[in-house]
Amino acid sequence: MKDLKLNIRVEKAQNSRLSAVDFDNLAFGKTMSDHMFVADYRDGEWQDLRIVPYDSFHLAPATSSLHYGQSIFEGLKGFRNAQNPEEVLVFRPQENAKRMNVSAERICMPTIPEEIFMEGLHRLLEIDRDWVPSTPDSSLYIRPFMFATDEFLGMKPSDTYTFAIITAPAGKYYSKALRVKVEKEFSRTSPGGTGFAKVAGNYAASLLPAKLAAQQGYDQLLWTDAKEHKYIEESGTMNVMFDIDGTFVTAPTIPVEDTILRSVTRLTVIELIQDMGHKVEERHISVDEVIEAIKNGKLKGAFGIGTAVTIAPFAVISNDGEDFDLPSDYTFSNELKAKFQSIQKGEIEDTKGWTYKI
Ligand code: COI
Repeated sequence: MKDLKLNIRVEKAQNSRLSAVDFDNLAFGKTMSDHMFVADYRDGEWQDLRIVPYDSFHLAPATSSLHYGQSIFEGLKGFRNAQNPEEVLVFRPQENAKRMNVSAERICMPTIPEEIFMEGLHRLLEIDRDWVPSTPDSSLYIRPFMFATDEFLGMKPSDTYTFAIITAPAGKYYSKALRVKVEKEFSRTSPGGTGFAKVAGNYAASLLPAKLAAQQGYDQLLWTDAKEHKYIEESGTMNVMFDIDGTFVTAPTIPVEDTILRSVTRLTVIELIQDMGHKVEERHISVDEVIEAIKNGKLKGAFGIGTAVTIAPFAVISNDGEDFDLPSDYTFSNELKAKFQSIQKGEIEDTKGWTYKI
């Protein structure tokens, strides 16, 4: 039992929507659980901590985040413990709490104390425990977020904010290996920008390029650096890993590069790959190096890594209008995913203290 000490008001939903959920056919992010945790920042402090039925926010048309984008979020997952299905295992939530504050500082928002993040999450999942799915490839996707609430059209950091956590039982994000296109026209972010932070605007900036790539038959983009479009940074909403002859290469994050999100899944995957006896290099990797490695057979496989997707293998990389097929017999990404998920679900012992029990 954790040390729960905050004063959190609880208003339970009168009617649960749980019985209407088809847990065998869960999409990603469409169905929200019964309750949400909410806190408001006013007069320089977080106040009115509450768990209330999931419902709309009442926002004035001049709410500043709607105009100037002061809005950040996190993504993490909860699972039923395979050893004890009554228990929920949340994967590395303290890392998300820390990263949320890195994002908050970058766009002049107040930080959220880790105890509010953690206790809000804990109490919310105690109440919505039955929403955590147990069907294969499913999880409870947890979405903490914070946005500015000043009713003001002047351009300045808001004085007031709302922090909330909502959750959604979710199925697979992608159901097949991805066709990804190297993006050389648009940029997701640039040096000195907000790439390392999980700010809403980064995702808005990615929509048009992703839509254009989808029209050409690609599932996602491989983002390249904004200056030269020479080095690979991320893929869609994921970090990315290349297996070059058994050495795993991924782009460097802060403090080396401020354009790449330092995802919790990436941190985890790096450690797991090393534990599996392989070398990982966090370094710049050029498009040319990847294409050359495909041509000479050294690229054994490549995959995206992110919370929503876990591990998403690539089937095709397209560069300058030419499609390159990746080896179809690559199995490592599936092995890695299986190992990762078995820790998340408590099927194998968590020797790292990664899972947080509720
Ligand atoms: C996540 O992987 O949690 C993300 O934030 C991606 C999201 C855009 C679905």
